Amino acid sequence: MADTNAKLTVNGEEYELPIIKGTLGRPVIDIAALQESGFWSYDPGFKVTAPVESKITYIDGGKGELLHRGYPIDELANNAEYLEVAYALLHGGLPTAEQKAEFFEKIREHTPVHDQLRKFFEGFRRDAHPMAIMVGVVGALSAFYHEDLDVSNEEHREITAIRLIAKMPTLAAMSYKYSQGEPFMYPRNDFNYAENFLYMMFATPADVDYEKNDVITRAMDKIFTLHADHEQNASTSTVRLAGSTGANPYACIAAGIAALWGPSHGGANEAVLEMLDEIGTVENVPEFMEKVKSREVKLMGFGHRVYKNFDPRAQVMKETCDEVLEALGINDPKLELAMALEKIALEDPFFIERNLYPNVDFYSGIILKAIGIPTSMFTVIFALARTSGWISHWLEMHSAPFKIGRPRQLYTGETRRDFVKVEDRK
Ligand code: SDX
Repeated sequence: MADTNAKLTVNGEEYELPIIKGTLGRPVIDIAALQESGFWSYDPGFKVTAPVESKITYIDGGKGELLHRGYPIDELANNAEYLEVAYALLHGGLPTAEQKAEFFEKIREHTPVHDQLRKFFEGFRRDAHPMAIMVGVVGALSAFYHEDLDVSNEEHREITAIRLIAKMPTLAAMSYKYSQGEPFMYPRNDFNYAENFLYMMFATPADVDYEKNDVITRAMDKIFTLHADHEQNASTSTVRLAGSTGANPYACIAAGIAALWGPSHGGANEAVLEMLDEIGTVENVPEFMEKVKSREVKLMGFGHRVYKNFDPRAQVMKETCDEVLEALGINDPKLELAMALEKIALEDPFFIERNLYPNVDFYSGIILKAIGIPTSMFTVIFALARTSGWISHWLEMHSAPFKIGRPRQLYTGETRRDFVKVEDRK
C-alpha cells in the first residue's frame, strides 16, 4: 500500500505532507504545510514542481507519450482536423458530428477582424518581426471587445475562446502580408481553417483562379495539431500566471505569445533553420558537433525538459515532412542535412548520455519552408496553433476557484543597511 503522506523532518519538527495521486503519471506531494516550517521549497526552472492540477494534456517523457484529453497525438494528427482537437482541448472530448458542425461554423463566423485593427499594423516598420506584431495586436484585441471582458462571466469566457482561435490565422496572415507590402486578404467562408490560413497568406486580390493544394492544406492542419498544447510548458504557465491576476484573456494570450518567442521554446523552429543555414553542408557537421559538445552552441531542435525519449510530435512531423517534400517534388538539402545531424546525434554519447532527442521543432521548419512560409513566420504559426491550448488552460483555471500566483525566493542580497547621502558615498 503506497504511503498516503510524505514525512519531512526539519529543525526537530516533523511535517506530514499529503501525497496526491492523479489518473496518470507521477503523484504529487502537497507541500502547503511548509508554510508553518519557516522554509520555502526551492526549484529553479520548476523541474520538479506541479503548480496546478489539469485534465487537458498528459506527457510521459520517458515513454515519449503525449495525450490530449486521453487521445494519443499521432492518432489525432493523422485522423482529426485541428479544430476537432481544439474542441477536445476546450470541452474535454472529440466533438460529435453535430457539435463539430456547430463549432466549425462558430469559428468561421468569427474569423474576420475589426477593420480598425488594420491601422495597428501601420504603426510597425515593414521589417518588424511578425512575432512583435502579434504580441502587440493580440494584446490590443481587448480594446475591441469591452462588452465581453468580464472574466467571471462564463459566456464571456466562451466567446473569447472562439474569437481568439478564429482570429489568430487572420492576424498571423496579416502580419505576413504587412511584411511583404501586400494587401490583406479576407477569410473565405467556403474554406476550412487551414485552407483559409494558406489563402490569406499566399493569395492576392488579383488571384482570380487561386487554387487550394490538398497536400499542403493537410500538412498545415497537422502542424497546427502537433503544436496545439503541451501541458505546463513555459508559455502556457505564463498564460496561467497572467490569468491568475484576473487579467483579460487577450492580455494573457499576448503574454503567452511573448514567452513562446524565446529560442529555447517556440522560437527554436526558426533557430533550427538558421542553424542548418550556418552549417551549410553535411561535410561541416562534424565540426559543428564539436562546437555543440564544447557548449559553444546548442543543437537547436534537440532536447526537451520533459521528453527523455523521442518527442512523439517530431516523429509525426518527420513523416509529414517526407510526404510534403515528395508530393511537391522538393529535394531540400536541408532535410538531408537535418537527417545527418539526427543520425550523428542519436549515436553520439554526448547526446545519448543527456537524453537529447529531436523535439517538435526539429523538422517543422523544413516543412514550413517547403510550403513557402518564411522563417520569420515559424513561431507565429506555433503561436497560432498553441492558442487553443493556451485558452483551454485559461478556461480550466477559471472553471474552479484559484489564487493569484505569487512564488517566493531564496534571497542572497544585501542585509539591512542605512541610507547614505550621495555626497558621502565612496
Ligand atoms: C519547445 O516545455 C515544452 O513542452 C516546450 C515545447 C512545447 O510544445 O511547448 O515542447 C516546445 O520549447 C521544444 C524545445 C525547443 N527548444 C530547442 O530545441 C532549443 C534547444 N534545446 C535546449 O535549449 C534544451 O534542450 C531545452 C531548453 C529544450 C531543455 O532544457 P533543460 O531541460 O533545462 O535541459 P538542460 O539545459 O538542463 O540540459 C541538460 C544537459 C545540459 O548539459 P550539461 O550542462 O548537463 O553538460 O543537456 C544539454 C545541456 O547543456 N543540452 C543540450 C541541448 N539541450 C540540452 N546540449 C546541446 N544541444 C541542446 N539542444
